[in-house]
Amino acid sequence: MGDTMGETATAIPAEAPTRDLLVVEDDAGLQSQMRWAMSNDFVVHVAGDRSEALNIMERHRPSLVVLDLGLPPDPDGATEGLGILDSILAEYPGTKIVVASGNEDRNNAIKAVSFGAYDFFGKPVDIDQLRLILERAWQLHVLEEENRRLTCPSSKALDGIIAASSVMLDVCRVVERVAPTDVSLLIMGESGTGKEMFARAVHNCSGRVRGPFVAVNCAAIPENLLESELFGYERGAFTGAVRQTKGKVEQAKNGTLFLDEIGDMPMALQAKLLRFLQNRTFQRLGGREDITVDLRIVSATNRNLAGMIAQGGFREDLFFRLNEVCITVPPLREREGDALVLAHTFLHRFAESYRKGRMDFSQGALVALSNYAWPGNVRELENRIKRAVVLAQDNRITPADLGLADSGENDAFVTLRQARRKAEVDAIQKALASCHNNLSRAAKILGVSRPTLYSLLAAYDIRAAAK
Ligand SMILES: Nc1ncnc2c1ncn2[C@@H]1O[C@H](COP(=O)(O)OP(=O)(O)OP(=O)(O)O)[C@@H](O)[C@H]1O
Ligand SMILES: [Mg+2]
Repeated sequence: MGDTMGETATAIPAEAPTRDLLVVEDDAGLQSQMRWAMSNDFVVHVAGDRSEALNIMERHRPSLVVLDLGLPPDPDGATEGLGILDSILAEYPGTKIVVASGNEDRNNAIKAVSFGAYDFFGKPVDIDQLRLILERAWQLHVLEEENRRLTCPSSKALDGIIAASSVMLDVCRVVERVAPTDVSLLIMGESGTGKEMFARAVHNCSGRVRGPFVAVNCAAIPENLLESELFGYERGAFTGAVRQTKGKVEQAKNGTLFLDEIGDMPMALQAKLLRFLQNRTFQRLGGREDITVDLRIVSATNRNLAGMIAQGGFREDLFFRLNEVCITVPPLREREGDALVLAHTFLHRFAESYRKGRMDFSQGALVALSNYAWPGNVRELENRIKRAVVLAQDNRITPADLGLADSGENDAFVTLRQARRKAEVDAIQKALASCHNNLSRAAKILGVSRPTLYSLLAAYDIRAAAK
């Protein structure tokens, strides 16, 4: 634990707790009530304002935070509380923050949850209820840490990829495993799902990172120019070929060649590409010299290649060369929770680059963002948010700013809650299934104690035949 017993820590009971909890609260009475109530279970640190809170975060890295939203200089509003929430999550994204709110500002608590808080509780404090929330937050934190440790040893290069849903995390995991190898990767997915972003991540995670990443969009180049674009040409190869020119294949030497929209490659060129992939040599247009190039191929398409093969529009032998490993990037509508996480990221990014100050989404906008089907996927989301940031009348983005229908519903919070509950239930059921309901082993997999697992099973009404 090192120096976690700082000057803010409470007296240590017989069996010293090892989990750090930060309580951000400006009311002295509540501060001591919390210390008193929580110090058996946690090393309690108390902060009265933002700078104290961030100081303690830096020194002790508590995984759990109880945050009062109404703090000076805005004790009756929530701007300071939400600001602290934002700062903590930006710096320490794994932190589980539970916000406290008075009855009159439930909306702010809901907003805090949509900004990434784990949960909220009402004031006056029901200590038993808070304890339960904190225990569950801790269990989830342990589970997530364990998951991270097991599955993402080093994902720096995937850092720019925002993924919260389990389907996308699965894709990230495959990409991390495949990237350092030299296998040819085929990336499938609807338009705007992030195929090119993954292609770049694969390059950045590979041993070729110091080499070039060269992208060719097979759909954007006229058929008669694509061959010279790919393989280059010698002087005089055709009218206008005034000097010898290297193609993309040569430019990608020792790096990665990204063949985007591979499904749009004409048949004649497919044969030439196949030949190159078989021998790793090619000739420039109008040239005789065999040129050998070492590169890795990543290709992408939003078309159904299997269907095209069946109809004679794509060579099956080329397909197998390109598709040593295939990943499918799921459409945004199938990624639970990702739209909101991406939306907040884009909002912060664009608000900053257009110097709009702090912006947020109205409750209706959050509902609209989660309900919309996103036919244009992440690209559409990015564009709608960029336009909304530019056009919005004030700092709160509404459904109208996003060009989305305002359903007038007010149930985004319920949706988030359900999503979290479902994630926990899924993880527990998966663990149980993987060890045939052996509770000790399941507890180990989940990184919780056996009694904790029992209480989770009871809380979620999951039945497992004990062995
Ligand atoms: N998970 C993500 N995290 C952050 N940004 C993303 C993510 N997915 C996509 N983007 C952004 O969305 C935009 C579209 O992504 P990208 O160009 O990779 O999609 P694509 O599948 O290649 O689309 P298309 O089929 O239209 O070529 C890019 O600006 C990209 O940076
Ligand atoms: Mg693309």
